[in-house]
Amino acid sequence: MSEYAVKVSEIRKTYTDSATETVALQDCSFAVKPGEFVSVIGKSGSGKSTLLHCLAGLITPEKGTITIGGTMIQDMNEDRRSDFRLSHIGIVFQFYSLVQELTIEENLRLPFDVNGRQSDHTFLKKLKKLLEIEGLDHKYPAQCSGGQQQRVVIARALAVKPDLLLADEPTGNLDSESARQVFTLLRQCQRLFRQTVVMVTHDLSLAKQADRMLVMEDGGILHAPV
Ligand SMILES: Nc1ncnc2c1ncn2[C@@H]1O[C@H](COP(=O)(O)OP(=O)(O)OP(=O)(O)O)[C@@H](O)[C@H]1O
Ligand SMILES: [Mg+2]
Repeated sequence: MSEYAVKVSEIRKTYTDSATETVALQDCSFAVKPGEFVSVIGKSGSGKSTLLHCLAGLITPEKGTITIGGTMIQDMNEDRRSDFRLSHIGIVFQFYSLVQELTIEENLRLPFDVNGRQSDHTFLKKLKKLLEIEGLDHKYPAQCSGGQQQRVVIARALAVKPDLLLADEPTGNLDSESARQVFTLLRQCQRLFRQTVVMVTHDLSLAKQADRMLVMEDGGILHAPV
């Protein structure tokens, strides 16, 4: 295993629209140790979601390097990167949501169907119970509440027991009691499977319960001693 689960060095990401150019990330560097639970806070627009999308390899920074478990992700072609993501990374993003045409059960099985891996039925059952999504198997996403859909997305990400879990406001749609429970569940899974977690949140009380809190400002991490 490499020394760091995540290592980000001097990345820069700019969004260019027809008229404007927005620098979303600049001089952004930090590292996360294997098994560490890190929270990321920062003002709206500071670059948190962009950073997580870069870590997932869904967008590529134009400068700098990102290594996940010792593998430099931007050197991979699209197919290898997508294989790597499916095998190693669990994603809980707002716009990385459920497939509307599939039932909840089919959505939960999707990472295994794509990956050809065996699902752990007992674990999936336990996740469903913990996240209170047990009765939803045959429903379609549109027939579930926003909070239920969010919990299914979390279950789908955890089901593959990823080395690295990236979560962008995973408790954003939940009431404070459910948010606390989901956070506790993420913590339990992280400890149980020695997962590395990077979680963006606006909830300072949850952020403080992480092993370490990173603060983003103007596209960079403010203080990032490992
Ligand atoms: N697809 C895009 N096209 C153009 N600009 C974008 C795009 N996505 C993000 N930006 C801009 O990049 C900057 C960083 O956005 P980002 O979504 O990473 O912030 P954030 O910290 O996640 O904010 P929030 O807390 O509101 O979710 C912002 O100025 C935003 O307007
Ligand atoms: Mg965001």
